[in-house]
Amino acid sequence: MVNILIYHSYKELSRAAAEEIASQIQRKADSVLGLATGGTPEGVYDELIDIHKRQNLSFRSVVTFNLDEYVGLGSDDPNSYRYYMTKRLFSHIDIPKDQYFLPDGTNENLLQECEDYEKLITSRGGIDLQLLGIGHNGHIGFNEPGTPFSTKTHTVTLKQQTIEANSRYFHTIEDVPKQAITMGIESILNSKRIILLASGKKKASAVKRLIEGTVDESFPASALHLHPNTTIFIDRDAASLLDD
Ligand code: PGA
Repeated sequence: MVNILIYHSYKELSRAAAEEIASQIQRKADSVLGLATGGTPEGVYDELIDIHKRQNLSFRSVVTFNLDEYVGLGSDDPNSYRYYMTKRLFSHIDIPKDQYFLPDGTNENLLQECEDYEKLITSRGGIDLQLLGIGHNGHIGFNEPGTPFSTKTHTVTLKQQTIEANSRYFHTIEDVPKQAITMGIESILNSKRIILLASGKKKASAVKRLIEGTVDESFPASALHLHPNTTIFIDRDAASLLDD
């Protein structure tokens, strides 16, 4: 069961999603948040910083787990997701450094890293609210089409389409890592609440398939229909192909 909220603009969508996250933290100061990277959540992070500064929303007791990280990129690499999160959010709010987590893509034992990450999420009580984007091919996190819905945190080889979409952040397409660690679909579905964001015409066909299509492992985001409390925040452009 998914709920759908359609907003006029990306700015409105970002504000509304940030307010949802803020009220989650107001209800439960030690909330465990699942966070995402990419272009889409940038507006939400800007709005959260604004709420933190203007309304004194505190992240002092919040714990966060990011969905994914590239294999081989360390925290000082500007293309690592740890770097992105620090720059976009963590350095602007009062979350303690030992309360935000991302998979470590430089760990030589990736299998161990995945197991440890999954255990760490469980040991913190699981994720209260997970933020997601969606790839053109329906991926969530780096769970590419064909990923079994039963997967936990694991290492993946990125599809060419994903490498191309993400190459905009790198000097050349060859610089995009070919592998990543990602929470699995089951890890995502274990979250108590999920918010998926999609903005712009380029996401319209993925949004249409997510909302109107069947539940199928060839389209990972369709797994969200199996989750009891998912809300999809989209703007008018992303909703433009939906049936009336
Ligand atoms: P984007 O990526 O927000 O940069 O479009 C979303 C995703 O690939 O999950």
